Amino acid sequence: MKSNHDFKNIAVIGAGYIGAVLSAVLADKGFNVTAIDINESLIKIYNSANSPFNEPGLQELINKTINNNSLTASTDISKITEADVILITVGTPLKEDGSADDFAIKSAISSMLPYIKDDQLIILKSTVPPSTTQELVAKPLSKIAKVYVAFCPERLAEGNAIEECKNIPVVVGGVDDESALLAEEFWTKSLGVECIRVENSSAAELVKLADNAWIDLNIALSFELAKVADFLEIDVLPVIKATNSLPKGQHFVNILLPSIGVGGYCLTKDPWFMNAFAESFGSSFKTAVTSRIVNQESPIYSANRLDETLSLKFPKLEKNEIQIGILGLAFKNNTGDCRFTPSLPAIKILLELGYSIKAFDPYVNDSDYALFNPLKRAFSIDEAMDGAHALAFFAGHKEFEKIDHKRMKELLAPGAVIFDGRMYFERKEIEAFLELGFVFKGVGR
Ligand SMILES: NC(=O)c1ccc[n+]([C@@H]2O[C@H](COP(=O)([O-])OP(=O)(O)OC[C@H]3O[C@@H](n4cnc5c(N)ncnc54)[C@H](O)[C@@H]3O)[C@@H](O)[C@H]2O)c1
Repeated sequence: MKSNHDFKNIAVIGAGYIGAVLSAVLADKGFNVTAIDINESLIKIYNSANSPFNEPGLQELINKTINNNSLTASTDISKITEADVILITVGTPLKEDGSADDFAIKSAISSMLPYIKDDQLIILKSTVPPSTTQELVAKPLSKIAKVYVAFCPERLAEGNAIEECKNIPVVVGGVDDESALLAEEFWTKSLGVECIRVENSSAAELVKLADNAWIDLNIALSFELAKVADFLEIDVLPVIKATNSLPKGQHFVNILLPSIGVGGYCLTKDPWFMNAFAESFGSSFKTAVTSRIVNQESPIYSANRLDETLSLKFPKLEKNEIQIGILGLAFKNNTGDCRFTPSLPAIKILLELGYSIKAFDPYVNDSDYALFNPLKRAFSIDEAMDGAHALAFFAGHKEFEKIDHKRMKELLAPGAVIFDGRMYFERKEIEAFLELGFVFKGVGR
């Protein structure tokens, strides 16, 4: 069923990471997009045709769409009056008690009330516990106007956000059938993506939490397998590959890969949201709690394995005489996002142990480097490697993939430790490191 609705004018409330990607992609598809945020300095960055976030392709898209006027950015919420569709992408941080902080959603909705009008389609995309769309969005707005309200979780992953935004199926849950149909029509016409309709907005809210609960739990499983592999002195990667060859249900076993840890804004909080929601009706979500506890251990475990390997390799050196070059600080490959990055606790431990550390991340901005104080900053791969007794890969940025073996030999200390926290080096490359006289260690490798 096609409606007569126009989707030409879109307002995106919350111009953070998700709002930036959605706004730029939709503007590039020819829609008139207004990105709205309460943060004035953020809006200034957009209006100077720059991207506030270091996400591949985003700078180019923002530059292009701001300059051709398909994207505008503003702090003025009254601009939503002109919108056919309003996407809400404000932050939903974790509260101390493990529940979702809905302050930004409530304040966004209350600021919208004077400007809402009939027939607008309002889609909440922020990650929230079930019932939020109904209670905090649909109820207050429908007292003011005859609006359509749906929840469509944002499921893209940073680092490949633009592609994923345009390709991942969108889950649609409406507060009523008309809203769901209109939301489906909007996504089909705007992004051209497949829509997966679920029973209602609560069901769609649960889908998002279930996705992230699965990912976090899966990574916890891979991390615990890595610990067993370390004990057995075998490489966990071929074990996971072989394990994943088993057909199960409609797919295969699909264990993800272990690393120095899980970070970012979502996986570190959404499993807690799941448990807090379950507790709200007298139950619990124990697997989500367990995966959080297990995954919080991985940076500590990784730092300790690196320390152990260095102590064995350089027994005569004091820790402050041992230099570690770290490549990658962000939690996610090919991004500069340091929110809850596992590099931070791992580095903290290594600094406390007394190591001298220099770190390089081509994506991380100056203010995020400050999070790692008193860490010394390197400005190139070469500088991080120069004289180092260990080269530790804490992120798998593409810049690190073709690391020059000749430069490694020239710059690293003889017999240096190569620590694989997220690169998943192939056996052939590991053999090459060993031939150069280096020691190789990874998480479960
Ligand atoms: N970052 C991701 O990879 C990702 C992926 C999937 C889902 N999500 C979810 O999407 C939501 C947004 O995440 P993000 O990473 O973009 O967060 P963010 O913190 O980068 O952005 C949120 C923005 O909302 C703005 N804001 C807060 N209150 C406002 C108000 N009343 N009016 C207008 N703007 C307001 C803030 O100033 C901020 O710029 C969260 O619920 C998150 O869990 C994020």
